Amino acid sequence: MMDEMYDGVNAGANEESLRMVSSSPVGNEPVSDEELRPHVLDGFIGQPLLKAQLQLFLDAARKRDVPPDHILLAGPPGLGKTTLAMIVANELGVPIRVTSGPAIQHAGDLASILSSLEAGEVLFIDEIHRLPRAAEELLYIAMEDFRVDVMVGKGPGASSIPLTLPRFTVIGATTREGMLPSPLRARFGFTAHLDFYPHDELEKLITRSAAVLGLPLDDGSAAQLARRSRGTPRIANRLLRRVRDWAVVHELDTVEPDDVVEALALYQIDTEGLDRLDIAVLNAIVTNFNGGPVGVNNLAAMVGEESETVETVCEPYLVREGFMVRTPRGRVATRKAWDHLGLTPPDGAGALS
Ligand SMILES: Nc1ncnc2c1ncn2[C@@H]1O[C@H](COP(=O)(O)OP(=O)(O)O)[C@@H](O)[C@H]1O
Ligand SMILES: [Mg+2]
Repeated sequence: MMDEMYDGVNAGANEESLRMVSSSPVGNEPVSDEELRPHVLDGFIGQPLLKAQLQLFLDAARKRDVPPDHILLAGPPGLGKTTLAMIVANELGVPIRVTSGPAIQHAGDLASILSSLEAGEVLFIDEIHRLPRAAEELLYIAMEDFRVDVMVGKGPGASSIPLTLPRFTVIGATTREGMLPSPLRARFGFTAHLDFYPHDELEKLITRSAAVLGLPLDDGSAAQLARRSRGTPRIANRLLRRVRDWAVVHELDTVEPDDVVEALALYQIDTEGLDRLDIAVLNAIVTNFNGGPVGVNNLAAMVGEESETVETVCEPYLVREGFMVRTPRGRVATRKAWDHLGLTPPDGAGALS
């Protein structure tokens, strides 16, 4: 089941998967993600508001002794959606069934999962925005009325038998909340929005992960790693593993900040968490297009990448960190981008401050 889920999640993300700073799981990472996953809400780092909300939600369900309402977890990859789903099931002491939108090809696949759920069980549907239409409709009914219509037979003689389900909890995860049809969204009693993590929370997370991996890391090193992690726990853990490789090979007793800087420079990740492609994009805007504006297609051609890669992989982080802005006429490098590249915008260049 797990493999299936991650295959689904990885599909179509090949380009992205090659990058050290990709926020999707790469290679055998689903397995290594597992060892770094906290199992109780207390161990989940950061996101204090969300944790408090979820705590209340779970406490109430436990007191009332009923399965909690359905939960939707929304946010970019690598921020802890799967981890939270596992934590919820663990805190409730119930089994969790894992599937994903892309793994369910026909409504019948979902019907058979639903009809085999035990009372109180958590059904985790990753990438829920990718469920086929017919499965979505089946899911609304199951979530609301705890009923599923099982089709028997084919063609004109087919009939549907309503089957009553025990109460259970759906936890949906999505990176594209906007793609969920509103009737489905409305079936969730609680929606949690995960945000990128600030540096101090990432530092705590890195320190915790280093302890799990048995890697002696000083505070300054955790800070260096946090800066380069793009606000994303999955990236933080991945960079930490590369630093561990470095520590093993160099037989270090403690990892110091310089070790982090050197180890990650080897992977061409700079102080701001920008990698080779991000830098190539900024360089192209600044040197080839005089700071912009430039259309994404021209920009992508200049760095030898698909437009879609530039648009979905580089831009969100560059925009969020204030290195570039999107204007109706195209992409423009900000003053911060020029500074980061060590360049001064000439008079009349498209730099924004
Ligand atoms: N708040 C957190 N505290 C500790 N570890 C976290 C946190 N959020 C994510 N992680 C770790 O980051 C990795 C990716 O998290 P995951 O839940 O798989 O992300 P998502 O499902 O949103 O893509 C896992 O190893 C997970 O344990
Ligand atoms: Mg996940």
